[in-house]
Amino acid sequence: MDTIGATCLLPGERALACPQENRPPLLDSSELECLKQFEVTRSQLQQIQVSLLGCMERALKGKADSAPAVRMLPTYVGSVPHGTEKGDFLVLELGATGASLRVLWVTLTGTEGYKVEPRSQEFVIPQDVVVGAGQQLFDFAAHCLSEFLDAQPVGNQPLQLGFSFSFPCHQTSLDRSTLISWTKGFKCSGVEGQDVVQLLRDAIQRKGTYNIDVVAVVNDTVGTMMGCELGAGPCEVGLIVDTGTNACYMEEARHVAALDEDRGRTCVSVEWGSFSDDGALAPVLTTFDHVLDQGSLNPGAQRFEKMIGGLYLGELVRLVLAHLAQHGALFGGHTSPALLSPGSLLLEHVAEMEDPQLRQGDTCPDASDAELVQRVCAAVCSRAARLCAAALAAVLARLQHSREQRALQVAVATGGQVFERHPRFHNILKETVMHLAPECEVSFIPSVDGGGRGVAMVTAVAARLAAHRQLLEETLAPFQLNHEQLGAVQAQMREAMVRGLRGEASSLRMLPTYVRATPDGSERGDFLALDLGGTNFRVLVVHVTEGGVQITNQVYSIPEGVAQGSGQQLFDHIVDCIVDFQQRQGLSGQSLPLGFTFSFPCKQLGLDQGILLNWTKGFNASDCEGQDVVCLLREAIRRRQAVELNVVAIVNDTVGTMMSCGYEDPRCEMGLIVGTGTNACYMEELRNVTSVAGDSGHMCINMEWGAFGDDGSLGLLSTCFDAIVDQASINPGKQRFEKMISGMYLGEIVRHILLHLTSCGVLFRGRQAQCLQTKDIFKTKFLSEIESDSLALRQVRAILEDLGLLLTSDDALMVREVCQAVSRRAARLCGAGVAAVVEKIRENRGLEVLTVSVGVDGTLYKMHPHFSSLVATTVRELAPRCAVSFLQSEDGSGKGAALVTAVACRLAQTAQV
Ligand code: BG6
Ligand code: GLC
Ligand code: GLC
Repeated sequence: MDTIGATCLLPGERALACPQENRPPLLDSSELECLKQFEVTRSQLQQIQVSLLGCMERALKGKADSAPAVRMLPTYVGSVPHGTEKGDFLVLELGATGASLRVLWVTLTGTEGYKVEPRSQEFVIPQDVVVGAGQQLFDFAAHCLSEFLDAQPVGNQPLQLGFSFSFPCHQTSLDRSTLISWTKGFKCSGVEGQDVVQLLRDAIQRKGTYNIDVVAVVNDTVGTMMGCELGAGPCEVGLIVDTGTNACYMEEARHVAALDEDRGRTCVSVEWGSFSDDGALAPVLTTFDHVLDQGSLNPGAQRFEKMIGGLYLGELVRLVLAHLAQHGALFGGHTSPALLSPGSLLLEHVAEMEDPQLRQGDTCPDASDAELVQRVCAAVCSRAARLCAAALAAVLARLQHSREQRALQVAVATGGQVFERHPRFHNILKETVMHLAPECEVSFIPSVDGGGRGVAMVTAVAARLAAHRQLLEETLAPFQLNHEQLGAVQAQMREAMVRGLRGEASSLRMLPTYVRATPDGSERGDFLALDLGGTNFRVLVVHVTEGGVQITNQVYSIPEGVAQGSGQQLFDHIVDCIVDFQQRQGLSGQSLPLGFTFSFPCKQLGLDQGILLNWTKGFNASDCEGQDVVCLLREAIRRRQAVELNVVAIVNDTVGTMMSCGYEDPRCEMGLIVGTGTNACYMEELRNVTSVAGDSGHMCINMEWGAFGDDGSLGLLSTCFDAIVDQASINPGKQRFEKMISGMYLGEIVRHILLHLTSCGVLFRGRQAQCLQTKDIFKTKFLSEIESDSLALRQVRAILEDLGLLLTSDDALMVREVCQAVSRRAARLCGAGVAAVVEKIRENRGLEVLTVSVGVDGTLYKMHPHFSSLVATTVRELAPRCAVSFLQSEDGSGKGAALVTAVACRLAQTAQV
């Protein structure tokens, strides 16, 4: 290096720092003026503290302008270390200290206190790489990793890497981080706005020598805080004064608007290097700061950092010395090329020149020059330390505010070469902090290994989370059905339909309903309707007039004991409800024609006759299967000595829904229910229905598709969770399709997946929640609520907490994913079923393109935020030649049952005429 002064001065030479002891300073006014610029008064420091605190609080609230003065970046580190983290980790540090890169091998033992010294190697990044293309920088990093590992006995084992990347980044998870802008001496093209983890992964893959997974990315402040030796209490602030400067601290998560979190603490990187507030900073900025800024790689940015960071201190000293020399106050008015070259004075030179220990015994060509140089160094460094103290005091004040504590005891982990090389810096900082934050008791804990251990700890946590994610994905993979699988379901459904219609063995019963036509609008009259089998039991009176249909209805409950008790009890209860309804509506004594929506599989021999084949869903009343439901109702009326009912039609809910929607839209030729159970009906060509005589016209077929797959044909798609839910149901082995789709079962599937994930330690920290053991506790309506896009994660958590589950945000996120996988599979399977039906209608009619409407009802379909659109998308995917519109039935199947009755009455009247 060239000499700086004209006489003998080398920046690293001790001669510079050897004024004669006890000599009074001999400074003339211009020298004094020059040094005075670096003085910062206490009130200026206080102003900086207050202004920085304000900026921090605005940024936390997300209220700052587009480019906030400080960024307050969430780091996704949620807790200070437990000390129980263990394993071997690779750490790559980039951007903390100068243009170098460090690779470390850190072993965490899982026990506090006992430490294995990390192995490390430092690599200097060539200057053309520091300001070159981004890919070159990451390739260099990958190269250094390989070189380091070549000397380690690692072989081919998979390695987990923590990436300490010390630049401002928008992090969205522990392993995803987008560089906002380069700071300090770096300026590689094509990296800003990119995920640096991905760039590193790509480079490692290009290199291809080791099996390294990048599991976490952290700022140097975070690594320092996390690696801090545990003292009396946890360390909750990390402070770096290295090439640049910054701090991180543990903030109450609820105060961080950028996070959707209301509990616990989260580490926030302040990025105070970019702090700029003209009011507070302008009075302390010197002409030298402006010159330095203009000559830097990022003029106008990081103004605060440029007064404190180690990258800049040497340059500031050089500028002052050159100025003094040029004005004749130093080196006899001589300068040297080195003194005039930017970057020629480094931090280590400043530290050395300022060190009072070096005075003794050194030769000093010109004592007054030496003293002045030393005073310049001291002025620049003290200002840096005091400014840094003001910033730290702002962080402490923030901690006091957020914790609502006046007196604060806090440990601050410190790291960086300015601390290491410059002992006075630390002392000045400490003293100034005591003045600015007198009510805080701060202990400073120097980082022992540059934060490598802390990075390894975050990496250990991230690795655990990644392993959990993998388990989650493996668990949910069988629920993700691809196009081929759905196409196969559609094809199997189609075959089962044909076999069922022909009366051959099939899991689809394809029951004729004796409904031959949809309403034509000429129906009139008053009708009674019953609606049994969904969430609610309803009794209705339906007025069909020229002006439309008016309905009055009453909901009655069917207690589980009644639904699963004796048949007599069930039908007596039904009649009690009818009698109550008639009394309330003033209909007692009248015998209106009645349509009975009975949402269970019935073999019909006519419109008014339905033999219950078997109960489904939550019903299991004894002595009903094999009986005509109309007779069971009539017997109950007789037992109750109530007025005889005129039962005209018994109708499945799918048929009721189709008829109800058909009244509004004549193209409605299919009915679909996705509620407690699931099923579909559609208009089939009578010639295809073997069990009913006649070759022309149509008949509505109740498919009873809930039973699809009961012959084992869905075996490959059925997961172990489906099997558990089936086995625990009241009808094991039955309604296998329904059990994968409908509301009565989806909550149960989710519950069993959650139990499994808990037992693997993925959820709820592996602690089995008692409430999850209870059957049916996880209602399907929770899926609809949890999956709602407008719901914040904290609301999702509140729903789950109501169940008695104690969970973190990660848990809530995973529960949401489980719900999504289960409901998505249900909707896609349902779509495959609809596709099979509409394609059959199209082919029946020999049409190139079919336009058809489907009437739909059911709580799951109506309440779930995405179910309906997923069904529609799947139908478009699997039946591209059918233009299918879905109409939601507004009035339930009771209206449809009344319309079936009305049509029957109209036809009967016509027949009589
Ligand atoms: C209703 C019908 O609209 O939909 C019921 O009237 C039917 O008969 C129901 O069973 C299906 O939905 P859920 O969700 O109540 O089972
Ligand atoms: C710069 C970076 C910041 C880092 C600090 C200390 O300010 O932007 O992320 O923490 O330097 O290295
Ligand atoms: C069950 C019944 C069926 C009904 C469906 C929807 O699958 O067996 O008849 O249509 O639930 O409620």
